Amino acid sequence: MALPQQVRIVEVGPRDGLQNESGTITTPLKIELIERLGKSGISYIEAGSFVNPAWVPQMADSDEVFRGVKRAPGIVYAALTPNSRGFERAVAAGADEVAIFAAASESFSQKNINCSIDESMERFRPVMKAASEAGVPVRGYVSCVVGCPYEGSVDPGQVRWVTETLLAMGCYEVSLGDTIGVGTPGEFQRLLDEVLAHVPAAKLAVHCHDTFGMALPNILTALRSGITVIDSSVAGLGGCPYAEGATGNVATEDVVYLLNGLGIEHGIDLSELVATGVFISDALKRRNASRAGSALQSRYRRDG
Ligand code: HMG
Ligand code: MG
Repeated sequence: MALPQQVRIVEVGPRDGLQNESGTITTPLKIELIERLGKSGISYIEAGSFVNPAWVPQMADSDEVFRGVKRAPGIVYAALTPNSRGFERAVAAGADEVAIFAAASESFSQKNINCSIDESMERFRPVMKAASEAGVPVRGYVSCVVGCPYEGSVDPGQVRWVTETLLAMGCYEVSLGDTIGVGTPGEFQRLLDEVLAHVPAAKLAVHCHDTFGMALPNILTALRSGITVIDSSVAGLGGCPYAEGATGNVATEDVVYLLNGLGIEHGIDLSELVATGVFISDALKRRNASRAGSALQSRYRRDG
């Protein structure tokens, strides 16, 4: 299939990127990161999550983050919500959109949200009802679409079933998460062939972690299959607290560099984004995990 002309980036750095950081990250720093991302042209930012703070302490201040961000027009500020309590908190804090998150593997579902896949669907129903009444769009996630840290490889048919269930509940889009970043293009193609036989590409996004360095080839596979929404994290921040050893998401800078090379529109200013990646890496005293970000930073320094 021909490559798409335009792609939407879903920036998950402030949520997926920061949720696993163990050190203190102040609320003003999170707010500054989100505002800088907005200035670089990103139109969709997952700014926090309203989960049980005992499970993910780093996201405990999401209420303050949402309230503190100076909103820019045209940007969606979204939040992760595992249940009705989370949904109520997200709406009270002013989230424009929410995301519910299920898994394709039973063990990951238990470890991540303390219930089976079926139970998670039951918990999501009241969220979907409340969201529909409040006019809040809901995105869905499926974790472990290729592999599970506890069960190993995952059946594409199971991913398809969870995806279809989330869409049937009213999610406008489902993001397929390679949570532990183990997929390769062959596996991704088999997965997408299975899901796309039942679900239109316009309803799907891909969410690749880069543990084995396969995120970009997997994204290219998704683009060639007609998927036009890509989740990524500035400076490759991230990791999931319930998926030990998994590294961050694919870096947004790397995705943008790839899209530029392919002539695909995305609306993002790469030099602003690179500066934002350098800013957050320095602030967290963390190596910048974006290859393109590091290379371009050196080039910008050299060229003054
Ligand atoms: P639970 O302990 O089974 O919940 O956790 P519960 O309903 O039994 O409630 C226990 C206590 O938690 C109660 O308080 C609730 O009020 C409170 P108590 O009465 O004991 O004082 N509670 C809450 N407090 C604040 N906000 C809430 C909330 N819910 C309950 N929303 C639960 C179940 C789902 C809440 C828990 O397991 C949880 O918070 N899990 C979140 C884990 C998480 O955030 N993981 C990372 C995000 S997923 C991810 O990264 C993958 C993704 O990026 C895609 C990919 O890469 O594949 C999306
Ligand atoms: Mg993730």
